This record gives sequence, C-alpha cells and structure tokens, in this order.
Amino acid sequence: PRTGLTDALGRRINYLRISVTDRCDLRCRYCMAERMSFLPKDQVLTLEEIALLADLFIARGVRKIRLTGGEPLVRRDIVDLVHRIGRHLGEGLDELTLTTNGTRLAQHADALFDAGVRRINVSLDSRDPERFAHVTRNGNIGRVFEGLAAAKAASLAVKINMVALKGVNEDEILPMLHWCHEQGFDLTLIETMPLGETGEDRTDHYLPLTEVVDQLRAHHELRPLAHRTGGPSRYHAVEGLTARLGLITPLTNNFCADCNRMRMTCEGKIFMCLGHEDHVDLKSAFREGGLLAVEPLIDRALRLKPAAHDFRIGAGAPGAAVSRHMSVTGG
Ligand code: GTP
Ligand code: 5AD
Ligand code: SF4
Repeated sequence: PRTGLTDALGRRINYLRISVTDRCDLRCRYCMAERMSFLPKDQVLTLEEIALLADLFIARGVRKIRLTGGEPLVRRDIVDLVHRIGRHLGEGLDELTLTTNGTRLAQHADALFDAGVRRINVSLDSRDPERFAHVTRNGNIGRVFEGLAAAKAASLAVKINMVALKGVNEDEILPMLHWCHEQGFDLTLIETMPLGETGEDRTDHYLPLTEVVDQLRAHHELRPLAHRTGGPSRYHAVEGLTARLGLITPLTNNFCADCNRMRMTCEGKIFMCLGHEDHVDLKSAFREGGLLAVEPLIDRALRLKPAAHDFRIGAGAPGAAVSRHMSVTGG
C-alpha cells in the first residue's frame, strides 16, 4: 500500500519544488556563471512526464507544488503544465505556485490565474535599472515592472524575493520594503547561498540578515508572525506598513529541523536537500518501467534526506557547498 512521504527523522514532506528548466534569460551573478552550458533537450523531462510524476507525488501526500527553474516561464507551453497540475487544486493539492524573475510575466499572468495560481514569488534584487542590469548581467528591468503590473491586474498576490548583497543592494532594502508596501506586495529577504561556481567571490557580498534586521529595527518595529507559507521564510509584521517581511536565513539561522520539502530537477532527479549531492534519478526508471518503477526510488530518496544543510561563506569555507547551481535544483 502507498504511504505518505515521511523521512527517517519523521519530517513530513508535503512541499514539492519542481525545476521545469535549467535555462534562464538572466544570469544573476550569485546564481549563474556568465557562460553556462545547459542540458540538451532529450535529457529534460517532457511536460507530460512532469505532469505524471506530479500526479504520483500528490497521490503520495504532496499538498503544495512550486514550479521553479531556471526561469519557469521560458519553458515553452509551461502554462499547459500549470493547467494540468492545477486540476488537483481543491482536492489533493492546496497550492500551486511559481517563482519567477518576472520578465515574461506580462504574457502569462492571466493564464496563470485561470489555471488556479493565486500567489507568485518574483525575484527582484534592485529597482534601479542600472543596478538590476549589473546584478542580472544585462537584464531589462522594464519587463519585470510590466510583469508585476500584469500580475497585480490579474489578482495574483506577489511576494518579492530579494537576495541581500553587501555593497550591491544593502542600501535598497528599506526603500524596497516601503515600495512593496505601496504596491501591496510582501518582501522576502534571502541570504546568498554557496551553490555552484559563478565566477564571483560570494564572500565579498555575503550579508547576514541579522545585520539587516538590526538596521531595519532603527526604522520600524518588527514583530514575528505565526504566518507560514510552507516554505523556510519566517515572517514579521512591520510597524506602520502592510507589507510583511519574510526572512530566509540558511546561513545565520538554519531552518532544517522542520523542513517539509523535496525537489525534482528538470532531468527528473530528486534532491532531498539543496545543500547535498545525494539524489535519486527517476528519469530512466520512469522511461523504462513507468510510475510503478518510480515508487521504490521515491522511498529510497526519503531515506537520503539529511538532518540539515551546512552552508558556510567566508575564510576557510569552500567557494561552493555543492557544485550544481541553484537553477538546476530549483532553489
Ligand atoms: P513560499 O514560502 O511559498 O512563499 O516560498 P519559498 O520561500 O519556499 O520559495 P521561493 O522559491 O520564493 O524561495 C525563496 C528562497 O528560499 C530561495 O532562495 C530558495 O532557494 C530558498 N529555499 C527554499 N527552500 C529551501 C530549503 O529547504 N533550504 C534552503 N537552504 N533554502 C531554501
Ligand atoms: N543564494 C540565495 N538565493 C539564490 N537565488 C538564486 N541563487 C541563489 C543563491 N546562490 C534566489 C533567486 C530567487 C530564488 C528562487 O532563489 O534570487 O529569488
Ligand atoms: Fe535566472 Fe533566477 Fe538565477 Fe537570476 S536567480 S539567473 S533570474 S534563475
């Protein structure tokens, strides 16, 4: 008989993150190298394969699915997949959502809402066009603003993801929070994680959120909220503002003890932790033996889930904790 997804430490896994492509139209400096080689098409799961695997995970107890990448909206026909998985909403699935860089959101916002998406996370590290172009290595911020406007018009709730970077966007954090308040968005700050070589030294730009919080407290009282979204973010009410402030602190305050997540890459590999190399590969089993052949591999994956990640940045720490980039595992 089928059982739910519980790991060896008793953690219930009910949140699946699916990277639908390793490709992206941007090249954020902390995420990718300037020149990346991407996977050939035949190594990437088809949308139909992703949908069938998602069905299985939902049958095994996954209640929340987030599509990521790379950039999920650069994958052709991605909205068809959203519709297909969205059929489970209201039955097996509580939430279907995406993390996107926003550049193609204007084309897709209405269709995403129609497919059942109600909330999206949009990455935006700077609102200054030149800085944005610098961080993303030539991205066009105008597209992102158009995408955000379209999301609002489509009634999608928006949370801005901002990776806090010393000497890059530190001075924009408070203005970003105020802007999110004006726009009706929430803001989540993220500590940069050592994933994949990017050709840049992460030590230079690592900014612990403990420092940021101390600075913000000089302007606003922050009050911890019980609100949780099923992800690692810890939310705070900000005195005087409606925007909630989320903090994702993989370095200064590891949140692994109550981790509920697993990840499927666009090649069909299951990673139980962002910070570890251990994985199982579903693709060939699935292509040869169908879903029946996949089930035991999922059980094996559950046993691989480590107690915690161990990210360190700075003197003596390796440049990257794991060699694969965030865009492969999907954040
Ligand atoms: P919601 O809580 O549903 O809004 O989403 P989320 O914060 O889980 O997802 P999002 O894609 O916006 O991720 C934000 C950041 O959190 C990314 O940088 C992720 O890599 C990071 N993150 C999500 N889950 C984990 C995790 O299990 N471990 C670590 N270290 N980072 C994570
Ligand atoms: N460390 C922290 N966050 C990262 N992201 C991408 N790479 C990294 C990294 N090395 C962020 C993106 C996006 C989210 C899914 O992950 O900015 O908001
Ligand atoms: Fe693309 Fe997101 Fe990586 Fe930036 S952080 S390069 S937008 S996948």
